[in-house]
Amino acid sequence: MKTTLTNSRRDFLKKSGITAGAFYIVPRHVLGRGFVAPSDRLNLASIGAGGKGGSDIRNAHNGGKENVVALCDVDKSRCANTIKHFPDAKVYNDFRVMLDEIHQDIDAVTISTPDHVHGVAAMACMEMGKHVYVQKPLTHNIYEARRLTEAARQYKIVSQMGNQGASNPAQAWMMQQFENDMIGPVHTVHVWTNRPVWPQGIPVPVEAAELPEVMSPEDWDLFIGPAEYVDYHPLYHPFKWRGWWNFGTGALGDMGCHLIDPPFRVLGLGYPTEVECSVGQVFTQDWVPEDIPEGCPPSSHVQLKFPASERNPSELTMIWYDGGIRPFHPDLIPADDWIGEPGSGNGVIMIGSKGIMTCTVYGQRAQIYLNNGDKVELPEDFRTDNPYETETEYGHQISWTAACKAGFDSKEHKALTSSFDYSGPLTETVLMGNLAIRSYALGKGSGRRKDFYGRKRLFWNGEATKITNFDEANQFVGRTYRDGWKLI
Ligand SMILES: NC(=O)c1ccc[n+]([C@@H]2O[C@H](COP(=O)([O-])OP(=O)(O)OC[C@H]3O[C@@H](n4cnc5c(N)ncnc54)[C@H](O)[C@@H]3O)[C@@H](O)[C@H]2O)c1
Repeated sequence: MKTTLTNSRRDFLKKSGITAGAFYIVPRHVLGRGFVAPSDRLNLASIGAGGKGGSDIRNAHNGGKENVVALCDVDKSRCANTIKHFPDAKVYNDFRVMLDEIHQDIDAVTISTPDHVHGVAAMACMEMGKHVYVQKPLTHNIYEARRLTEAARQYKIVSQMGNQGASNPAQAWMMQQFENDMIGPVHTVHVWTNRPVWPQGIPVPVEAAELPEVMSPEDWDLFIGPAEYVDYHPLYHPFKWRGWWNFGTGALGDMGCHLIDPPFRVLGLGYPTEVECSVGQVFTQDWVPEDIPEGCPPSSHVQLKFPASERNPSELTMIWYDGGIRPFHPDLIPADDWIGEPGSGNGVIMIGSKGIMTCTVYGQRAQIYLNNGDKVELPEDFRTDNPYETETEYGHQISWTAACKAGFDSKEHKALTSSFDYSGPLTETVLMGNLAIRSYALGKGSGRRKDFYGRKRLFWNGEATKITNFDEANQFVGRTYRDGWKLI
């Protein structure tokens, strides 16, 4: 398995006069150094050091318990604070050059770029035997999630996805309560978010825009990475890339890995078997819906079906809502109690035969409503055996650095709450919804009479990563890569 990032890597090798054979990246344990001893400090690098990447690398650095040796970002204004925080770190624009130049100095990498770069950057690191912490969603598409999950095992590296709520002890409490049969087998799950909170479902920008002063055209080209080339526009970078399929994964991709995590974990779910959706429409003229296949929709409603699992002996239906739409208040929850969080902007409801378990983002506000009218709240003093639970983001980054030091397959590695063995299938499930949303936009003709022939109930073979009843939807399992950036 190799990324064909090698084109540019080869260019770099040519320029630097190093031969590929002398250098082709061998994991450290093969070179004989072995895993890093627990007393050692890890040498960390960050790819996408601005935005969320700033807190990811600071948390992993753990107040100086590890070293930060390199920072990579295509926009130096976005990561200025991170550079200031780590003045000794080498600074790069291109993660491929960083890995080529100083791979021998790097043990582990946090990757916090926009979603479209996660897969290629993580694969390039893993091929070199680097441990990786990758932001959520793990990847931009289902194909990449499957490849990364396989690669983490193949290269024997320690992985963690950045859905920090996975390490919230509240999730362990929910698991315990479910195991104790508090709510009985679960048949229906509702999950919702108030995202998108960025422009989404809007026309593609056509007017020219100046690159930010600190960015060169080469930097913008690096931002594009594996995606289809489009000119810079502030509606893409920073942050707003989320609303465009070329880069982001919409509201579902943004929040699904936080909010679908509790039911996926508590109920021990695997690949769904079926998906169907509908999406919000946008009108700027009477009767003619805007046709914006490049943009994620302003709202969506997705239904996924799952077979019974080892943990949950009931088939179940999961219903996702975004764009401000939320489920109705269940009868069992008193009308004056918020569902999910105060304001009910985000939430999760799991309905079982004996009661309802509910929480919001990161597993917060976990509570149970029983059919007999009792309410059970997370005990104040609830403690787990997670030694990092009181740390920032529940110690999600620190537990990963500890596992990197202990090595692949160690006790610490197995204790991670979102290594790719778990977060790969979770991400695939989240991205199944996006596959349906993109299929829903397929159509012949235009305007009022457009024939939307992709608006179907889709059946999924998870093992084969294939929609079995509508082949055209399978184009959304993966993506088309720009030359030189293919992930295979
Ligand atoms: N876990 C969480 O709570 C949480 C919160 C926010 C964001 N995120 C995730 O973090 C990731 C980044 O989101 P954000 O809000 O920080 O976005 P952002 O646009 O604010 O920041 C992304 C950073 O990556 C840099 N970048 C872009 N392309 C790059 C490339 N090819 N190489 C190196 N650097 C590159 C940008 O310049 C920018 O500094 C996303 O995957 C997002 O889903 C997670």
